[in-house]
Amino acid sequence: MRKNRRYWEASADAYQTQHGPQLSRLGRWGTWGIPERRVRALGDVRGLDVLEYGCGAAQWSIWLARQGARAVGMDLSAGQLAHARTLVARARVPVRLVQADAERAPFADRSFDLVMCDHGAMSFADPYRTVPEAARLLRPGGRLVFNIASAWHFVCWENETDRPSDRLQRPYFGMRRWDEETVDFQLPYGEWIRLFRRNGFAVEDLIELRPSPSARTTYPWFAPLAWARRFPAENIWAVRREG
Ligand SMILES: C[S@@+](CC[C@H](N)C(=O)[O-])C[C@H]1O[C@@H](n2cnc3c(N)ncnc32)[C@H](O)[C@@H]1O
Repeated sequence: MRKNRRYWEASADAYQTQHGPQLSRLGRWGTWGIPERRVRALGDVRGLDVLEYGCGAAQWSIWLARQGARAVGMDLSAGQLAHARTLVARARVPVRLVQADAERAPFADRSFDLVMCDHGAMSFADPYRTVPEAARLLRPGGRLVFNIASAWHFVCWENETDRPSDRLQRPYFGMRRWDEETVDFQLPYGEWIRLFRRNGFAVEDLIELRPSPSARTTYPWFAPLAWARRFPAENIWAVRREG
């Protein structure tokens, strides 16, 4: 947590300068900016209490508020939240912003109908803490929907070239914590499913994002387009809190 906070405090300004133009096209998922109207992971959010779990500059929260949700953007980094405050004020939408760690979110049990993020806290905090925490925060029937790098991306990542290759680079079994510039988390698919079920979630979908042949990105290092057309580089889990 400390390493990630340091990283995001140090890089918030540069990150928003580089990626702000792509992220300002609201309501789009992931490194290739695939529109929610095509992906349909969130459904109708009108009237819902929604928590963006690691919101960065809150571009998704602004979009959610525009769709009629009561949106709360939460992030670990004061630097990221400073950008969020500017964008929220500019957008003139009612988004509440909170600085907190997703592993210990400062909200009462059953405060939200939807907890979501796009390469947010579900990528940078330990799922063995965030999945129970999301279960606590959600009302029965509420949904946890998040986009993260895929397990394929993890096992194919080649340190020498700093990009995913078409060969397996590391074991799939045992993946959990990846300590590099940031500390990232990833689990084998079966472990995700067992973790969801142990915390009262039913799996609704695993949406493997595939960019179009002409997709562009401000995150070119994440995966070459040709790779991401052949293998899922990122995927959205959608799970529902049972009664
Ligand atoms: C890649 S940004 C995601 C935000 C936005 N969707 C985007 O793509 O820019 C990752 C965000 O997660 C936040 N984050 C990392 N660890 C966190 C934690 N434990 N709790 C809350 N936020 C966290 C970082 O501060 C950062 O703003």
